[in-house]
Amino acid sequence: MVFQGERVAVILAAGMGTRMKSALPKVLHKIAGKPIIGHVIDAVRAAGVDRIVVVTAPGGQSVRDYAAALGARCVVQEAQLGTGHAAAAARTELAGFDGHLVIAYGDMPLVRPETFAASFDAQARTGMAIVAFQSTNPSYGRVIAEQDGRLARIVEYRDANAEERQITVCNAGIMAAPASDFFRWCAHLTNNNSQGEYYLTDVPLLARRDNVACSIVMADEAEMLGVNSRSELAAAEGEMQRRLRSAALANAVGMQAPDTVFLSHDTVLESDCTIGPYVVFGTGVTVKAGAEIRAFSHLEECVVHEGAIIGPYARLRPGADIGRDAHIGNFVEVKATKVGDGAKANHLTYLGDAHVGAGANIGAGTITCNYDGFFKYRTEIGAGAFIGSNSALVAPVTIEDGAYIGAGSTISGASVPKDALCFTRAPRKEIEGWALEFRTRKSAEKSASKKGK
Ligand code: UD1
Ligand code: MG
Repeated sequence: MVFQGERVAVILAAGMGTRMKSALPKVLHKIAGKPIIGHVIDAVRAAGVDRIVVVTAPGGQSVRDYAAALGARCVVQEAQLGTGHAAAAARTELAGFDGHLVIAYGDMPLVRPETFAASFDAQARTGMAIVAFQSTNPSYGRVIAEQDGRLARIVEYRDANAEERQITVCNAGIMAAPASDFFRWCAHLTNNNSQGEYYLTDVPLLARRDNVACSIVMADEAEMLGVNSRSELAAAEGEMQRRLRSAALANAVGMQAPDTVFLSHDTVLESDCTIGPYVVFGTGVTVKAGAEIRAFSHLEECVVHEGAIIGPYARLRPGADIGRDAHIGNFVEVKATKVGDGAKANHLTYLGDAHVGAGANIGAGTITCNYDGFFKYRTEIGAGAFIGSNSALVAPVTIEDGAYIGAGSTISGASVPKDALCFTRAPRKEIEGWALEFRTRKSAEKSASKKGK
C-alpha cells in the first residue's frame, strides 16, 4: 500500500549509554564505519521520512552536532524519565505538524528501511502500529494481542505476571502514529509502574480510548539488536558484516572466504571483482569490475580501476587511485597517488603525494620522500619511466616520460629529462684478493688471542 503524506521520525537517543564505559556517546560508536545513529537516520530516510527529530541528553552536544550535519533537528530531554517522556520532548519541535510519525531508537542500527516502511503502511490502515519480533529475552516488553491480531497492550517484562512472561512476541520499540494524536496521548501518560517511568508502551492504551486500533508488524529479531555494551556493539557489527557480505555476493563479487572480509557501509564492489581472504575495507572504497584484491590488504578512501591487482599485503590509503590493469604488490603503501594504467609497483614501496604515469615500473624498495618534517611535496613519474630498485625520490622531483633511474639512486633537484638515464651510485671499487687476506689475518689474530687465555 502506498502511503501519502509527510513522514517524520523521532529518534530517541537520550539514554546514558553507561554500559559502554566510553567517553564517546553510545550512538556515535561505529558499525561498518558509520555511527550507530547514522544507520538509523539513513534507514528512516530510506523509508520515506523527510523530517527527523533526535531526542538527546543535555550532555549530548556531539550527538546533536553529528545529527544536525545529517540534516536532523535535535531536542534536549532534560531528565531521562522514560521512553514516553523522551518521545514527548519532540512535541514543540513538531508543533503544527499534521503528518505521520514513527518512533525509532538511536541505538538500534540494524532495523531495515522496509520495517519502518511497513510500520507506516500498517498505521495508515488501522490508525497506529507497533513492530514486534519473536524472542524469549527477558529484557523486552511483551506484546499482548487481541483475538483479531490487533494489539491489546504491551507489558514490560518486570511489570508482567507469570502468564504474560511466557509470551514470546516482544516489543521492538518502533511505533507509528498520526503525529498530533500521538503527542496528545503522550501528554496523558503516567509513571505508575515498577520503574516510575513514562512508558512509550502505554501510548496504544490511550489510543484505544479514542477508538484507534494498533496493528502489530512482525519483523526479524536480528534487526532489533540494541547496542548497550561493547559485546552488543561487536554483535551488531557482526550482523552488519554478514549483511554487507551477502549483498556483495549477491552482486556477483567473488570472495573465497567472505567471513574474513570486512566491509564498510559504503564499500562499492562492482560485479565480477575478486576479494581474497582477510581483506579490510575502511570507508570510501570503490573496486571496479574485474579488479582483484588479494589476501591481507587494507584499503580506505581509494579507487581501484578495472583489471588492477592489489596485494597480497598491500595498503591503499586515502587518495590512492589505481589505474586499469596496474599492479600494486606486497608491502606497497600508496597514499594520495594516482597510479596510471598498467603501471607496476610490485614490492616494498612507498608512493605518497605522487603521480605515476601509465606503464611505469617502480622497482622494489622505491620510496617517494614526500615530507621534510614541515611540508609535503609531490613526485611526478612520467609514463613508461623505470625506477630502479631501492631508489629514493626526494620530492619535489619529476622523472619525465621514459626516463630510467639506476638502482640505489637518490634523486633530488632538477627534473630527470625524458628518456634519460640518471643514477647517483657511488663508483664501484675493487681490490683483488682483499677478502682472502682479511680472513687469513683475522683468524690468525683470533687463535692467538684464544691461546693467551
Ligand atoms: C524499551 C521498551 C520495551 C522494548 C525495548 C526494546 C518501554 C517502556 N519499553 O525498553 O518494551 O521491548 O525497549 O528494546 O518503552 N531513552 C531516552 N530517554 C529516556 C529513556 C530512554 O531517550 O528517558 C531512549 C534510549 O536512549 C534508547 C531508547 O529510548 O535509545 C530505549 O530505552 P531503553 O531504556 O533501552 O528501553 P528498554 O527498557 O530497553
Ligand atoms: Mg533497551
